[in-house]
Amino acid sequence: MIAIGSDHGGFELKKVIINYLKNNNIDFVDVGCYNTDSVDYPDIACEVCKKIQNKECDKGILICGTGIGISIAANKHKGIRAALCTDSFCAKYTRLHNDSNVLCMGGRVIGPGAAEEITEIFLNTEFEGGRHIKRVEKISEIENI
Ligand code: RB5
Repeated sequence: MIAIGSDHGGFELKKVIINYLKNNNIDFVDVGCYNTDSVDYPDIACEVCKKIQNKECDKGILICGTGIGISIAANKHKGIRAALCTDSFCAKYTRLHNDSNVLCMGGRVIGPGAAEEITEIFLNTEFEGGRHIKRVEKISEIENI
């Protein structure tokens, strides 16, 4: 199950990604926003991250105007590794190496085609493990500082 959310800056791109999820029979929960009225991206990041933390969802997708604010907010949550991706290479390697569990994108930065490809790669690439495990564990240790 995927948790997806956006602020007003990411609303249009979120519609594209929701279509992609529907077309590929991927279950998702949309935490908002539901129109282009202005909302605060940290609130949306919290809703998606909570669903991962309580294991209702295994991955999340967050979209704001740049993808930056919402990724900063998401990464404040324990157990969340949010990756702002602007291309397929980053989407592939953040899954392989960082075991990222939240994909962030900028609705004002990338187009629908690139966003769909990034999403597809993010959702279908497994963590490589191996030498990357201890590095991801070190990220978790930082949460306790
Ligand atoms: C909202 O105008 C905008 O600041 C937000 O979508 C995002 O780009 C923040 O990082």
